[in-house]
Amino acid sequence: MTNRKPLIAGNWKMNGNVSNAKELASSIAIWYKENNNNKFNMLICPPLPLLPIVKGILGDSGVFLGSQDCHMNDEGAHTGDTSALLLKDIGCTHTIIGHSERRTDHNETDATVKAKAESAIKAGLIAVICIGETLEERDNGKTLEVNSRQVINSMPNGATADNVVIAYEPVWAIGTGRIPSLEDVAETHAAIRKVIAEVIGDEEAEKMNILYGGSMKPENAEELIAITDVDGGLIGGASLKSEDFIAIAQTCL
Ligand code: PGA
Repeated sequence: MTNRKPLIAGNWKMNGNVSNAKELASSIAIWYKENNNNKFNMLICPPLPLLPIVKGILGDSGVFLGSQDCHMNDEGAHTGDTSALLLKDIGCTHTIIGHSERRTDHNETDATVKAKAESAIKAGLIAVICIGETLEERDNGKTLEVNSRQVINSMPNGATADNVVIAYEPVWAIGTGRIPSLEDVAETHAAIRKVIAEVIGDEEAEKMNILYGGSMKPENAEELIAITDVDGGLIGGASLKSEDFIAIAQTCL
């Protein structure tokens, strides 16, 4: 048993419009308000333009709001980017950083991720830092090496269990319907916690949430979240359907 409160986080990616975002956010908000037993947290991360709309819908439900990225600078000439300060200002509590899709689509390196995470925590946001190996790296026996390197190089200065969440997302499991064996997930999460301890100390590492992400669904959520070092999930596809997202959250009741 640990004292970590699981986090059920939805990453909507580049999906949704005003009308279905309102519907989805409203179902989640209503459900959480009725079922929140203070034993787990919920977070949704809609596309940027929907954030203020979803914020209005979430109201006082207790569901947290996050963005899917932030810039590393506070302001300035960075067309198309958004600062962590502005995200905080519009009511976000979290931001995802370094998702594998951003590492690939936007060439984000561990150094970029670290700088963004530093900017996020300085602004008062919780940085949900994504790490994970590719299939090739896994097949070459490099899973632990890659994840350790990403933790060490992406962890922001000043990281604590209160301002950083790590999301372990094997790249080959994202959106594919495939997940690692439960033994592999347990081993990797335990190894990640050990590396976090080496970077920021045992006490913070023990308290820090490590989410699993990659094809988490209602059918596999319970057994994944039951693993000692798995403290919730970062959910893509299944977070777009309120029944599925709620069914996953129900495993924390
Ligand atoms: P998935 O995505 O649940 O659709 O696999 C997870 C993620 O990329 O965060």
